Amino acid sequence: MWKTKKLFNTESEKTLALIVDELHKFLGNIIAKSKEIFVAGEDLEDKDVSARIVRRAQGEQLDETFLVNTTVSFVMAGQDTICSALTWFFWRLFPPIPLYSKEAVEDDIWPDGKKVKKGTSIIYHIFAMGTSQELWSSDWADFHLERWLERRKSGTSYNDDRNFIARDPFTYPVFQAAPRTCLGKEIAVVLMKMVVATILKRFLLFYSVFLGTRFCI
Ligand code: HEM
Repeated sequence: MWKTKKLFNTESEKTLALIVDELHKFLGNIIAKSKEIFVAGEDLEDKDVSARIVRRAQGEQLDETFLVNTTVSFVMAGQDTICSALTWFFWRLFPPIPLYSKEAVEDDIWPDGKKVKKGTSIIYHIFAMGTSQELWSSDWADFHLERWLERRKSGTSYNDDRNFIARDPFTYPVFQAAPRTCLGKEIAVVLMKMVVATILKRFLLFYSVFLGTRFCI
């Protein structure tokens, strides 16, 4: 139905068009201000995402619409995903995007020999993959920090002698894999660590005061 509504610019599609227009104007102003600061020779390095995009775009023939659309992508891609990931982090461990779909742009053959015709829609279930015994063994439901750690070689000067080991993105596709991997993955992980560390610190302190237990994070 949305296609018809869009064609006649009516109902929800009309509202959506107004909101998108408003958002683009809002971000257009921010970009314009970032450009002014940049032209004035001030340092934009760490100001915000739009400033970084403007700085990186210098010298390239990128028009205003491209810059606004790129900023929209970052703002939209980073907000609900992080909120959702943090909510699940504190409740139980679920992926913020539980399932995803793709459409084959041409005929393809998968590594296991399966033939996929052009135009076929494929849905992969990230949540189900996270509970798969085949991928995570029969103890998939247990929280084993050791799954993600390996012993460092001796002679290291660090207090902690273990390294974090990431699983390959095809086994753990929370941020997608291959060319469409999330561009904000590192930002997301840093932001979430900051929030989690800040909150857990207080939470553990509460428990240690009332239960007399000693925790260390
Ligand atoms: C827990 C947080 C996040 C999760 C789970 C997540 C997940 C994903 C996934 C699954 C995709 C692939 C979409 C596709 O295949 O079309 C994606 C793409 C993308 N993400 Fe994230 N994301 C997160 C946070 C962020 C943040 C914080 C930013 C930016 C600051 C961001 C920016 C992007 C962008 C720009 C793309 C498009 C990449 C492309 O198509 O080339 N994401 N993300």
